[in-house]
Amino acid sequence: MNKLFCPSCHRQFSMEEKIWRCTCGGLLEVDFHPHFPIDKIQQRKPTLWRYREAIPILEDVNIISFNEGFTPLIPVDFGGKIVWLKQDHLFPSGSYKDRGASILISKVKELGVQNVVEDSSGNAGCAIAAYCAQARIKCQIFVPGDTAAGKLAQIEFYGAKLNRIPGSREDTGRAVLKAADKDYYASHSWNPFFFQGTKTFAFEVCEQLGWKSPGSIVVPVGNGTLLLGAYIGFNELLNAGIIREVPKIIGVQSLHCAPLYQALKEDLEEVPTIDKRETLAEGIAIAEPIRGKQILAAVKKSEGDMIVVDESEIKNALRDLCRRGFYVEPTSAATAAGLRKYLETSPSDEIIVSVLTGHGLKTTEKMLKILREHSRWVQV
Ligand SMILES: Cc1ncc(COP(=O)(O)O)c(C=O)c1O
Ligand SMILES: [Zn+2]
Repeated sequence: MNKLFCPSCHRQFSMEEKIWRCTCGGLLEVDFHPHFPIDKIQQRKPTLWRYREAIPILEDVNIISFNEGFTPLIPVDFGGKIVWLKQDHLFPSGSYKDRGASILISKVKELGVQNVVEDSSGNAGCAIAAYCAQARIKCQIFVPGDTAAGKLAQIEFYGAKLNRIPGSREDTGRAVLKAADKDYYASHSWNPFFFQGTKTFAFEVCEQLGWKSPGSIVVPVGNGTLLLGAYIGFNELLNAGIIREVPKIIGVQSLHCAPLYQALKEDLEEVPTIDKRETLAEGIAIAEPIRGKQILAAVKKSEGDMIVVDESEIKNALRDLCRRGFYVEPTSAATAAGLRKYLETSPSDEIIVSVLTGHGLKTTEKMLKILREHSRWVQV
């Protein structure tokens, strides 16, 4: 208990070590026993830190927080079926990545680290930069050259050093690994403490549904930080005897970048190498998900599924969401498009939760481009 461990080689490390991956190169996990004192939790502020006994930060003085979380979960009608939509685009930096950043940067502070590096398609970089700004920790964010201007501006305004890497998202991932030899890697995909934050999604959903688990959750998946966080969180609630079942996990990918969908449908052992094409859903355009095998295992274990959506389905879902007042970025619309497909076959009495992950104001150029292509959309 209270340690880091490597499922590949079974080495263990103290939670006080400044490491983000095992010495064998494997992915680390956090072994920590969470508690859920429900009466106390319900009296606390509506933030994700209300689940304090389930978050492995030792001292409260190290907490870096904007009182984020406990985002609204509201019922929305999708073609006659009610779905509970979690509005995680309403976080301080404009995406659900703040869940992971709040806990990870609190841990970074607890470790006494003063310089961090991170790579991102944009939103995780914004979140890490925001929390480092509050913590007064120096941070460098590596992003692909084609990252949305809104996200770039945000990262620089937070005071982070921005490194734009020519080439693909995967090239950016390779560039940051070199920098991680020197500075601590506050990675949303490698660092296990990020998932200790994204797991609060499950706690909030469960509490907001009256301490019950939904039948399924429909979530976007690139590197799987929300998907795996939700899986960890629901399993912790199950082990604590609060819920009886982990929901089915339905992951949504873009047809133009769907390695996990392909692996699941073709029952592959490894995540396949794919030919990635450009997609509106930039946040989930991950060709080589670091935790790919874990994601597939979680989806299978929960008896869930993977769904793909094409570019026109993403655009239609974006228009539909915006017309109902949800101004989100196209990546979030991909989830809604996947949700529509899932609803075609889902059991009629199932409680379904989905999520809006990123704010539309971050991707104004893309939103304007879509509007120009579909000028009739603006003429009501
Ligand atoms: C808005 C948005 N939604 C979903 C995701 C997907 O997250 P992950 O790659 O961790 O699965 C991202 C990642 O950047 C994102 O920015
Ligand atoms: Zn190892």
